[in-house]
Amino acid sequence: MPASTLQSLLPETLAKIEKISDLKTLENLEVEVLGRKGKLTDMLRGIKDLSDDKKKTFGQEANKIKLELESAFAQKRDKLEKKALSEKLKTEIFDITEPGIKPEVGHVHPLSKVQWEVENIFSQMGFAIMDGPEIESEYFNFEGLNIPAHHPARDMQDTFFIDKEHDPKFGKLVLRTHTSPVQVRTMQKYGAPLRIIVPGRVFRYEATDASHDTTFDQVEGLLIDKNISLAHLKGVLEELLTRLFRQKVVVRFRPGYFPFVEPGLEVDFSCLLCEGKGCRVCKHSGWMEFMGAGMVHENVLKSGGIDPKEYQGWAFGFGLTRLVLMRYGIDDIRLLKSSDPRFLEQF
Ligand code: PHE
Repeated sequence: MPASTLQSLLPETLAKIEKISDLKTLENLEVEVLGRKGKLTDMLRGIKDLSDDKKKTFGQEANKIKLELESAFAQKRDKLEKKALSEKLKTEIFDITEPGIKPEVGHVHPLSKVQWEVENIFSQMGFAIMDGPEIESEYFNFEGLNIPAHHPARDMQDTFFIDKEHDPKFGKLVLRTHTSPVQVRTMQKYGAPLRIIVPGRVFRYEATDASHDTTFDQVEGLLIDKNISLAHLKGVLEELLTRLFRQKVVVRFRPGYFPFVEPGLEVDFSCLLCEGKGCRVCKHSGWMEFMGAGMVHENVLKSGGIDPKEYQGWAFGFGLTRLVLMRYGIDDIRLLKSSDPRFLEQF
C-alpha cells in the first residue's frame, strides 16, 4: 500500500472505521493513526522542512483531520459499546428470586457482653457506673489508698511508669495497677453516701501465660453509707453471681490483706461445676477464688474527704477477665485480646 498522504489519510481511515465490528480492532486502528507513533504524528514531524506559508496550511489541515478522526473514532466506539451491552443483556439471566449476599455483621466482644451484664445487675441495685484514667498518678494508685512509698504492697510498683512531666504533688504517672484509685477520685468528687462500680482496664508488669496477662479488666465496687456491714456485701455479691451464672451461687469470706481495707477479705464463690462438692475444676475444694474486698480503711475515707466517724463502707475489686473465662469456659486469657475471628465467632 502506498504511503498515505495527508489528503488520503482521512477517507482511508474513515473507510476502515466503517468496516470494523469490534472494539479491540478499533482501538488498534486509533493507535495506528492517532497514537504517539501513529501516521498523523509521523506526517506532522515532516512539517519542519516546509516553507513558513506551507507550514501554516499544512498545520491547519492536519488539525482539522485530527479532530474529524477523533470524533469518528469516538462515535464508532460508542456504537460498538452499546451493541456489546445489548448483546450481554440478551444472554444474561437475572434471577430476582436468588437470595442476596448476606453482609457480614460483627458482634459484641465476650468481655463487653459480660461487662454490660455486670453493669446491668449493679445498676438495678442502685449502683452508678464510674470511670477513671488508665494513666494514673502514684498518689491515687498508691498513697491515697494507704499504700505509702515504703510499703511492701508497693511491689506492684514494679510496673509501668510513664516518662512524662506531671504535678510532683501527685508523684509520677503510672499505668494503674488496679481500679481502686477511682474509689478516692469518686469520694473526692461526690462525697458520701456513695454506691458505685468501676469497670476498667488495669496493667501489671507480669509474665504472660494462659492465666496471666499484662492488661486485663477489673470491676471495682464501693458502697459508703451509714450502718453498712459486710453482710450487705455478701448479699450484693450472691445476687450478682447468681444472676450472672444463672444458677444459685454461694459466697464465702476468708481473711485477707489489702492496705486500703480493714478488715480485709478474700472472697470465694461456690464452684459452678460441682456446686461446692469438690471437683477437678475447683481442685476439690468446692470453691473458686473470686476477689479481694473489705471495709474501707479510715485513711482511705480521709483521702476521699469523708469523715470515718460518720460514714463507713466496703469496697471490692474482681477480675472481670477471669469471670469471662469462667462464664464461657475459655482456657487461655490471651485469646480475649487476640482479635482472632476463629475465636470470636464462637460467641
Ligand atoms: N485492688 C485490689 C487488687 O487489685 C482488689 C481490692 C479492691 C481489694 C478493693 C480490696 C478492696 O487486687
